[in-house]
Amino acid sequence: MASKFINVTLKVWRQKNADSKGNIETYQLSKVSTDSSFLEMLDQLNEQLINEKEAPVAFDHDCREGICGSCSLYIDGRAHGPQTQTTTCQLHMRSFNDGDTIYIEPWRSKAFPIIKDLVVDRSAFDRVQQSGGFVSVNTSGNTMDANAIPIPKADADNAFNAATCIGCGACVASCKNSSAMLFVGAKVSQYALLPQGKVEANKRVQNMVRQMDEEGFGNCTNTGACEVECPKGISLENIARMNREFLKSNLSSEK
Ligand code: SF4
Ligand code: FES
Repeated sequence: MASKFINVTLKVWRQKNADSKGNIETYQLSKVSTDSSFLEMLDQLNEQLINEKEAPVAFDHDCREGICGSCSLYIDGRAHGPQTQTTTCQLHMRSFNDGDTIYIEPWRSKAFPIIKDLVVDRSAFDRVQQSGGFVSVNTSGNTMDANAIPIPKADADNAFNAATCIGCGACVASCKNSSAMLFVGAKVSQYALLPQGKVEANKRVQNMVRQMDEEGFGNCTNTGACEVECPKGISLENIARMNREFLKSNLSSEK
């Protein structure tokens, strides 16, 4: 597709800090290459703001290749923008037209408080992960080759698919209840499907669900919005598996 340049109007959420009141500011941006990524377009906006002696827009990013999960933005009312299974950093300006007005906002969830402008604090996910998203293995001397344990192909594929969750939080942001069940379901499933994860399975699901609740995420009411907006296509099946794991652990004597 031939590259071209477009002019856009940006409506961007600006907020000085966690305690201040935010508002939408309007900016005109000209000569945006349709080959540039959405984040490169924001870089261009920031260069313009700096040249005009205005404060640049704070936004989160790291890998810019769809793997770190930090580029979490609400674009035109959708988590990560208009394309399915695409992170904000992988979204290109060719998805927009000359003259478009684009709304850019941070995630909205009590569990993800705004730090500044478009940056939110997603450390609640880190604490959920720290509560059980690991396997304790003694690696001193007798480590078994992973390939020595046969794993059915379907289980390996499902575990891998669950492990592709990048912790971006789009599932929470797009859920009317701010539920984190898709994220936690993916993290629980990643281990529950593999023999290595069975040892601590009961404790893991109990701890991760407890931490999820303590962080203030809402309950799941099966709207399915999370699955639709997840940039990694994490399936709702992972929520069902987490619920089964939780029930199993409640019935077990070892928690
Ligand atoms: S489940 Fe999907 S939307 Fe939720 S954190 Fe993981 S990758 Fe992001
Ligand atoms: S910047 Fe890492 S996923 Fe977008």
